[in-house]
Amino acid sequence: MTEIANDRYLRALRRQPVDRTPLWMMRQAGRYLPEYRATRARAGDFLTLCKTPELACEVTLQPIERYGFDAAILFSDILTIPDAMGLGLHFVDNEGPAFHRPLRSAADIDRLGVPDPETELRYVMDAVRHVKSALAGRVPLIGFAGSPWTLATYMIEGRGSRDFRYAKTMRYGQPQLLQSLLATLSEAVALYLAAQAAAGADALMIFDTWGGALDPAGYRDFSLASMRPIVERLKTLAPGVPVTLFSKGCAAHLEAMADTGCAALGVDWTTKLGTARAMTHGRVALQGNLDPTALFADPASIREQVAATLADYGSGPGHVFNLGHGILQQTPIEHVTALVEAVHALSPAYHRVEQDG
Ligand code: CP3
Repeated sequence: MTEIANDRYLRALRRQPVDRTPLWMMRQAGRYLPEYRATRARAGDFLTLCKTPELACEVTLQPIERYGFDAAILFSDILTIPDAMGLGLHFVDNEGPAFHRPLRSAADIDRLGVPDPETELRYVMDAVRHVKSALAGRVPLIGFAGSPWTLATYMIEGRGSRDFRYAKTMRYGQPQLLQSLLATLSEAVALYLAAQAAAGADALMIFDTWGGALDPAGYRDFSLASMRPIVERLKTLAPGVPVTLFSKGCAAHLEAMADTGCAALGVDWTTKLGTARAMTHGRVALQGNLDPTALFADPASIREQVAATLADYGSGPGHVFNLGHGILQQTPIEHVTALVEAVHALSPAYHRVEQDG
């Protein structure tokens, strides 16, 4: 394994002392960056960009080069797994992802196989290897996947959704069928993340973007219950590689999420980090949680919000600075500079105790 020159992010995930709070942003490689839009235009479309390891590598590094973030996240998508399962992923302009063959029956679900990462998802593993070599140990690389429940919502609905009517009808009306789909996805995600770690990813993150669409019992029995075995299996399949769980809109479940044995939890902007820290009793690191919309205000206001976020977490290790969800496409690039400068300037004060004592 290559040594990592800037290991603040990995240290924070292990709740070890750092000189300042590490920073990266969800969706940091994306349409708000002019250099991303240029590479995407060369690729032709988003999926070709994802499936061409050289280009995926190029856009993964763009935000590292522009802003000096403390971690790189692989440029890919959570829907690579359902694509490899044969659902026919495509992107509809201004509407987002859709599937030609959504899951409509028990037979559709029974037919699904677990993709072999090094063959059916080889382009993802090749992208990881490319990025690792291009990073040359500057910062750690984050690999990721969608949670089984979040993947299931897209696979059942056939596209993004506001109310998740089909997926939630299955949750209430055919819970065993949903459980069998989630079991298949749980297996697929565990193998996929383990393969990313074997290809060189230094940390792993599970995006449960739609966990918050479930009722409390539904979250526990379907979303959390299908992430827990992934965390457990990765302890053997990818030993020592920290796993972050991010369930958006699930503040009430943070303690139960920490019980999975993951290293860190992502927190959205609706919960104070101090509250999340108290709920999890210092058992996990916390990642978050500036409201992405705060980046549309002027730089002085951004600095105030960064100060408030750092103060909410408070002193000591275990904080990874991030947004509470992905950066928005229309965000002015110089406002991201203001965010970076504020985290660099204001966060060392929260780590002095450890350094001196
Ligand atoms: O964070 C990063 O920079 C890494 C890359 C990344 C992308 N998607 C690139 C992307 C990651 C981690 C994702 C995860 C993802 N994809 C999630 C979970 C994370 C979250 O935001 O909650 C979800 C739900 C998806 C599914 C998906 N992919 C959607 C809903 C869309 C459409 C978004 C939109 O606004 O159009 C995508 C496309 C996508 N994935 C883009 C990017 C940069 C935009 C594609 C483009 O260039 O047009």
